[in-house]
Amino acid sequence: DIGCHLAGLHLSSCILNASGPRTNTEQQLLEIARSSAGAVCSKSATLEERSGNDQPRYTEIQLGDRTSSINSEGLPNKGFAAYTEASLLRRLRESAEPAGKPYILSISGLSLQENLRMLDLLLESGSVEHLSAVEVNVACPNVPGKPLVGYDFPQFEAVLKEISAHPVFTANPTLALGFKLPPYLDAPLFDAVAGMLNPLAKSKGGVLGYVVCCNTLGSALAVDVETETTVLHPKGGFGGLGGPVVRYLAMGNVSHFRSRLDESIHVVGCGGVCTGEDAFAHILCGATAVQVATQHRVEGPTCFYRIAEELKDLMRRPAGGKLVGASGGMPKI
Ligand code: DHB
Repeated sequence: DIGCHLAGLHLSSCILNASGPRTNTEQQLLEIARSSAGAVCSKSATLEERSGNDQPRYTEIQLGDRTSSINSEGLPNKGFAAYTEASLLRRLRESAEPAGKPYILSISGLSLQENLRMLDLLLESGSVEHLSAVEVNVACPNVPGKPLVGYDFPQFEAVLKEISAHPVFTANPTLALGFKLPPYLDAPLFDAVAGMLNPLAKSKGGVLGYVVCCNTLGSALAVDVETETTVLHPKGGFGGLGGPVVRYLAMGNVSHFRSRLDESIHVVGCGGVCTGEDAFAHILCGATAVQVATQHRVEGPTCFYRIAEELKDLMRRPAGGKLVGASGGMPKI
């Protein structure tokens, strides 16, 4: 059984899609619902529809048989209403028959006010009862003129406080709240962020259910040595780096947060999961569930079945394998 309990939700598989690739349209979300993914997570919504940045805004980096990516999409999405309308939520439920699966709405308002407005609309709408979680993305590196909230601690603290105090969560105690974090690179930053998150834990009377570690690593730059230009067009060619090249960084973030966060705040691993072994490595670092982004884009939604089967095969191996009692004095994860 590779199911899990994430922030009060039951997932029949701990492997789900990340917000981003193949999450923009109703058709794409329904395909995830029909797949083996443990939950369906939408593209990060803004209040209004956005077409995103100019093309080209996505490129792939091949290292052996592993594909990483750099993107500067700029939050193209159908707008908040499209991801919360009753007919989409009904089709998602029907597509995920017989058991149904959680639907996670990712939001990435261009301001705190915009995020709060979307939560207001959710509170007023009948859709909220069919929504399992709201995942607030504080880590998009790609909107011109909008620095990353998760790196601006005074702003980040205000965002955490106001969003977690929103009545949509107190009125709907089963609605989980998650935050999608950017990658951090230094121990004092993990201390500082954990210090802002822990007071919001359910065990402290708060509503924070989980964090995702982590979003893409910003300021990556791909260049074309033939044309002597950047590969991506928007924002001077800079974009967010994802996939196997950030997997070890993502796992470090999972582990740092797992060791610092209140037990009631779950950590979802995200970064470079291509195989069941990658998923297991994230779990060893402290992840309750794992999200798949670049590999989902490359392979399509059948990746959730393949990765789940690989993880199950791994779990069936004789307990502990060769590492049991043979850690050679290395630190336990
Ligand atoms: C986008 C890219 C990201 O890496 C992210 O976290 C959110 C949004 C984007 O450009 O659309």
